[in-house]
Amino acid sequence: MKIRFRFSRCAASARRFGGAPLALALSAFLLGACNPADKSGAPATAPAVATAPAAAKPALSPAAQAALQRLNAPVVPLSAVAELGKKIFFDASLSTSGKLSCASCHSPENAHAPANDLAVQLGGLSMQQQGGRAVPSLRYHDHAPAFSIGADTTVDEDDKIAAAAAAQAQDKAAHAAPVAKATLSADAATQKLVPQGGFDWDGRALNLTDQAGGPLLAPNEMANKDVSQLLAKLKAAPYASEMQLLFGPGVFTSPNLALGEAYFALAQYQKEDRSFHPYDSKYDYYLAGKAQLSEQEMRGFDLFKDPKKGNCATCHIEKPSRDGLRPPAFTDYEYEALAAPRNKAIAANRDAKYVDLGMCGPWRKDVAKKVNFCGYFKTPSLRNVATRKVLFHNGVFHSLDEVLHFYVERETRPEKWYPHAKDGKVDKYDDLPAIYRANVDTVDAPFDRKPGDAPALTDDEIKDVIAFLQTLNDGYQAGEKAK
Ligand code: HEC
Ligand code: HEC
Repeated sequence: MKIRFRFSRCAASARRFGGAPLALALSAFLLGACNPADKSGAPATAPAVATAPAAAKPALSPAAQAALQRLNAPVVPLSAVAELGKKIFFDASLSTSGKLSCASCHSPENAHAPANDLAVQLGGLSMQQQGGRAVPSLRYHDHAPAFSIGADTTVDEDDKIAAAAAAQAQDKAAHAAPVAKATLSADAATQKLVPQGGFDWDGRALNLTDQAGGPLLAPNEMANKDVSQLLAKLKAAPYASEMQLLFGPGVFTSPNLALGEAYFALAQYQKEDRSFHPYDSKYDYYLAGKAQLSEQEMRGFDLFKDPKKGNCATCHIEKPSRDGLRPPAFTDYEYEALAAPRNKAIAANRDAKYVDLGMCGPWRKDVAKKVNFCGYFKTPSLRNVATRKVLFHNGVFHSLDEVLHFYVERETRPEKWYPHAKDGKVDKYDDLPAIYRANVDTVDAPFDRKPGDAPALTDDEIKDVIAFLQTLNDGYQAGEKAK
């Protein structure tokens, strides 16, 4: 849950309008101003391209300019190291089955996600072993920070300062109001400990280089039994001489050296190659003032941002950084427990004792004892999400329609999403042991409801949100250059 702002709903929306001048943002926090009207006047210093058609503005805002520059950026040839990384990325001989390359699971034709609709992919020695989680897209990690647990950094500096002010106000409130103190100070304590950044659903890989070893050595993926086996394969690869040329003739003398350079090359390929972050969706054209959203897409966009309706943008941030240099990634790089239903399609789940707790394990070990993170998974980017065939960390959902209905009905109609336990009651949050269920976000809209309440979005509104999400697919107006 969004702990840093849970003491007041308006604070959460103030965070969304981080474009507000600092003084205004602070006074909004301190005065507890909750009126949505506060927001409309807010972005005085940073004209929000996202909220008004750029055509209506004579001069382009910095954000629109940056979006346009991204669309028109010349293709830069890959560095030699990235070229090597590309060869490694497509090399199936690095897997013990001989059948899997990085590209098999992260297919460039499918926004670097799998082509099939299996909840989890098959790998291992004879390609019969299920993976543990749905395969994420490799797109738009270009601004992802390394993993850390610390103060909430959200998208820009003013948001950070506003968050600190909020924490301070919260501390004050805790001292002034003894009744609420327990909850408030507990929140203030955890407020300083927001996990963010990193790679994989649980953030266990610090950065891209660190991540690359995972799949190559995982027994259910590319299944090299150890680093020496992988070293032998690199040495025999057609690009071995290239590695020696780039990293020195001694590169194959130790697994650490050779593997380190191979991982570095893989990371460099993902960073440099435009296909991993083309920023050419309809939404990017819209930001640059080169496309209009249709009426339906615009309705969906408004619902996406509305803190009382979809409230999606609280976590899937839709706006660029103030200077426009960090484009919207549709994630805040943070972690939440949303309690996706247990997925029977994952064979491991047939064992009642097995449970995927995200940050608390089974794959991540370092924070396993931090029980308030159990059930936490990384908020993924929503770019290209309409092309994904399986959704959420366990691949339990297969369409956006399902996801959206889950979001708005999880609390209002839990019986639709969770099975009945032996005692006949709905086993709400059935993929989390009872002791961790308090970690589930029930504070942020659209989860802030109870059984029988109307869902935060109607069926028609859900269609609108989906229409908006489709504007996040790469490759809009392919072939037609923005002027
Ligand atoms: C058998 C399928 C499979 C193969 C092959 C594979 N991956 Fe993955 N990849 C996954 C899965 C599953 C995850 C999520 C793991 C998790 O969260 O625990 C993932 C996660 C990632 C991530 C993190 C993305 C994020 O959203 O944080 C990166 C980066 C990545 N893989 C790169 C690679 C590279 C590079 C290779 C080749 C060396 C590769 N993958 C091979 C299935 C695969
Ligand atoms: C409180 C933060 C938060 C809010 C609010 C939120 N999301 Fe998410 N979203 C997440 C997290 C975290 C996940 C991953 C959860 C998991 O896999 O267990 C996720 C996953 C998704 C996915 C699946 C993506 C994929 O690649 O599998 C979609 C689609 C999505 N969200 C859309 C939305 C929409 C639309 C809204 C608004 C109705 C919304 N989200 C509101 C945090 C949030």
